[in-house]
Amino acid sequence: IVAALAPKPLQGCRVVVTAGPTFEAIDPVRGITNLSSGKMGFAIARAAREAGADVTLVAGPVHLPTPRGVRRVDVRAAQEMLAATEQAVAGADVFVATAAVADWRPAQAAHEKIKKDGSGQTPQLGFVENPDILAAVARSDRARSGALYCVGFAAESHDLLQHATTKRARKGVPLLVGNIGPATFGQDDNALLLVDAQGHRELPRASKRRLAQELVAEIARRRVAR
Ligand code: CTP
Ligand code: CA
Repeated sequence: IVAALAPKPLQGCRVVVTAGPTFEAIDPVRGITNLSSGKMGFAIARAAREAGADVTLVAGPVHLPTPRGVRRVDVRAAQEMLAATEQAVAGADVFVATAAVADWRPAQAAHEKIKKDGSGQTPQLGFVENPDILAAVARSDRARSGALYCVGFAAESHDLLQHATTKRARKGVPLLVGNIGPATFGQDDNALLLVDAQGHRELPRASKRRLAQELVAEIARRRVAR
């Protein structure tokens, strides 16, 4: 009953969220990944759904339940996340990139498990850069025209405001959200820094659920104001 009475500021909106880490294979049994619980992205997907949006959640490998009413697409590597996201954002109104995408992947994944050969020699891995999913979506005509509102996240270990400000400009997005340290991986609460072209403001420490609701309300206001 309470949910039914709640305001639905994103009614009729299509929202796409990326969440969790990506996993880049070294061989069939190993890979590299990032630390990310996916909780913030899942909370945003849930809050957007509760705000009335049609939500697609593109999720890297995480063990979290799918929020009720949310369409979930499971992916593993960054390239799969890019393909699934590009498909999902066609016709969408909002894109929120919370995923901790691996910046690099092994240049060549071995088809068979790499075995120790007994000599003590270690494999020499070469890396290539992964596609930047947020930057790619933000460069699209629909994002540039304002039809698709793009929001990025940044996890920095130091100088958050400075890095977030530069990152927002580099990615070409109207809003960039910084996780205010200390590292929030896996925790249930967080504090956020919102950075836009005008300046910045803080969403004080609260549960990820609460922050997700505030961020969704903020996105809804900005879409209306645009
Ligand atoms: N992002 C993305 N695809 C990538 C890398 C990042 O979509 N290959 C998105 C993240 O989901 C996040 C934003 O870009 O919303 C910023 O990610 P971050 O890792 O902080 O920035 P990078 O541009 O990768 O720069 P760096 O890691 O060197 O700070
Ligand atoms: Ca990165």
